[in-house]
Amino acid sequence: MADSVLSLKNLNVGFPGMTVVRDLNLDVADGAFVSLLGPSGSGKSTVLRTIAGLLPALGGRIVLEGLEITALPPERRNVGIVFQNYALFPTMTAFENIAFALRVAKNRQEEIARRVHEVAAMAAITDQLDKKPASMSGGQQQRVAIARALVTGSRVLLFDEPLSNLDAKVRTSMRKEIKRLQSELGFTAIFVTHDQEDALTMSDAIVVFNHGRIEQIGDGRTLYRKPATPFICEFIGISNELAPPLAARLLGRDVKGRSFVRHEDVVLGAAAGIPARVNHVEFLGAYSRVDLEVEGHALSAMLIGDQFPELGSTVSLGIRPGAAHTFPEERR
Ligand SMILES: Nc1ncnc2c1ncn2[C@@H]1O[C@H](COP(=O)(O)OP(=O)(O)OP(=O)(O)O)[C@@H](O)[C@H]1O
Ligand SMILES: [Mg+2]
Repeated sequence: MADSVLSLKNLNVGFPGMTVVRDLNLDVADGAFVSLLGPSGSGKSTVLRTIAGLLPALGGRIVLEGLEITALPPERRNVGIVFQNYALFPTMTAFENIAFALRVAKNRQEEIARRVHEVAAMAAITDQLDKKPASMSGGQQQRVAIARALVTGSRVLLFDEPLSNLDAKVRTSMRKEIKRLQSELGFTAIFVTHDQEDALTMSDAIVVFNHGRIEQIGDGRTLYRKPATPFICEFIGISNELAPPLAARLLGRDVKGRSFVRHEDVVLGAAAGIPARVNHVEFLGAYSRVDLEVEGHALSAMLIGDQFPELGSTVSLGIRPGAAHTFPEERR
């Protein structure tokens, strides 16, 4: 891709004697928001740290803005990094935190002040510059961390789970905040998360890792609607795997391989359905979650609105037409 700002070419990452991710190929367009999503231990942080130069690549190439940076030390790569806890220096003010790298690089005082104020204005934290992190809100600390990552001129910011310590409400507003800063400041973001909501809500593209392999790369809708592998189908959203005989009955045709149906695609009260027993019902406000047993198999359903089947009753179970995902064989 001609307009990629960052390209990973057959990149191998890991540690001496242990390759964590092999043959990673990725082109990131200028200004894009790309998430690296995957379960714990799948290699997301290792990839990020290798891009930042905190770990040496085991093979392959990293090209940033047309320049090969694979062997450059971190300070000579034009990338900024924002960590989970923001990693601000607690005894320094916001100004000093943002200025730190410029001071290390021995910039002149006036130049440092000019650049810190410029980036602080863009991040809307000019009035916070004299404060220390402990007296700032989480959102303000996040902006300081982003300003610090941008001040040296980096156009690519790497985020390693910056939202993972936050409760659900704060997390939602922080997502919007990061997206707002991104669109105003125009940086390219590589965002590591194990949270599918982070990835689905923020990303232009999501790279899904599993056991050191890339399972699929695509936008959120594609991953959700057209999962390439059983892993994606189970990892994003909530899916029921259907045993082959049950799949055949529900789909009305012979099914080879593995079949899945998402819990919101299970229909109760279907016209030509299969009898299912209601084993458990949980009311969650906007929807209810229902555990069913059908022909000896467990199945979960999500019912929106007022649908609330009676515990122990028998209902007629079907699935929305076209909603099942079938995988002829494991693509390995
Ligand atoms: N310093 C290290 N030395 C050796 N192995 C390591 C080191 N750090 C991580 N690993 C291993 O590398 C693999 C990938 O770890 P990594 O931290 O990249 O996972 P992750 O996807 O970021 O997981 P999480 O969501 O838990 O942060 C794991 O098996 C881990 O045990
Ligand atoms: Mg990690």
